[in-house]
Amino acid sequence: DGFGLKDGFGREITYLRLSVTDRCDFRCVYCMAEEMTFLPRAKLLTLEELTTVAAAFVDLGVKKIRVTGGEPLIRRNIMALFEQLGRLPGLEELTLTTNASRLADLAKPLREAGVKRINVSLDSLNPARFRELTRHGDLHQVLRGIEAARSAGIERIKLNSVVLKNRNADEVEDLVAFALGHDLDISFIEEMPLGAISEHCRDEEFVSSAELRRQLAQRYSLQPLEVETAGPSRYWGIAGQRSRIGFISPHSENFCGTCNRVRLSAEGRLLLCLGNEHAADLRAVVRNHPNDGERLRRAIVEAMTLKPERHHFDLAAEPQIVRFMNATGG
Ligand code: GTP
Ligand code: 5AD
Ligand code: SF4
Repeated sequence: DGFGLKDGFGREITYLRLSVTDRCDFRCVYCMAEEMTFLPRAKLLTLEELTTVAAAFVDLGVKKIRVTGGEPLIRRNIMALFEQLGRLPGLEELTLTTNASRLADLAKPLREAGVKRINVSLDSLNPARFRELTRHGDLHQVLRGIEAARSAGIERIKLNSVVLKNRNADEVEDLVAFALGHDLDISFIEEMPLGAISEHCRDEEFVSSAELRRQLAQRYSLQPLEVETAGPSRYWGIAGQRSRIGFISPHSENFCGTCNRVRLSAEGRLLLCLGNEHAADLRAVVRNHPNDGERLRRAIVEAMTLKPERHHFDLAAEPQIVRFMNATGG
């Protein structure tokens, strides 16, 4: 134990993204189709199984766990999981990515379980447009959730905005102003082709991070920062501001060379890369051999050899990855 996880390209894996459900109370247009079928309960890892797998990863050197979904906070009894994860010795960071619909109630217990940083998906500050993009979301509820996170003492809150040329690109400056005004970080994301969506053509909606930075440079003086969050975002600062402006650019500035992460889907498939199908079935291992930690750790170590070098997304083609983001864990 304690020898660390390395893939076949020599990359150290220290970050686990743990999806706890494929369900969501929103249906963001880039993430899901309007009609979706979700996994039956029996296929999901139980909270105990999730904890067992997470603990095995931490034993193997993982330092950061991000709980994702779907929407993680709608999973029943989810706080029990955060409390267990918060007690794992050796884990340096426990965090989550959420749509904030339930954050008003859960921010305080999350902080108490050890969550110091959270990422909140927010693509528009216009209530009607927010509803169109999320299909079901209520902007005011999300803003209340963000305030609750602040009041609960969560130290850093990062907004994640997927930027779509014809839907919200005109709001990028407003989103930055909002982030600055509320002492939030913000990352702008280039949409990835996961799952077939009907709402828009992904290729036509593409805006590069460089283009956004050019636009923002007319109003702010952006300075590259050396921040390392272990995530794919590359950050820029503005003099006199604590807020960081990040860009997640899978198309225009590929970051796979420094990839340090793997994801566990809600059904216990270890996905070695967001943009590839390489996977290992860890559910079979924990379910068939619940008390065999050695076997689980071995399965994880062996799975690392399956991690591909990088993704090859092509926005103009039919999506090669049929799995939607909600089944991927973001
Ligand atoms: P920080 O810890 O705040 O840096 O978070 P993060 O950027 O690692 O996580 P977050 O949940 O905020 O992820 C934001 C977006 O980055 C999501 O859309 C993810 O799908 C995307 N993302 C995260 N990791 C990867 C990755 O390995 N490959 C690709 N292509 N996208 C990723
Ligand atoms: N491309 C890029 N980002 C996406 N997200 C969901 N679907 C996609 C996609 N197809 C983002 C959400 C959330 C994060 C977990 O993933 O907006 O912030
Ligand atoms: Fe839900 Fe997040 Fe997907 Fe939106 S992006 S539908 S909030 S899982």
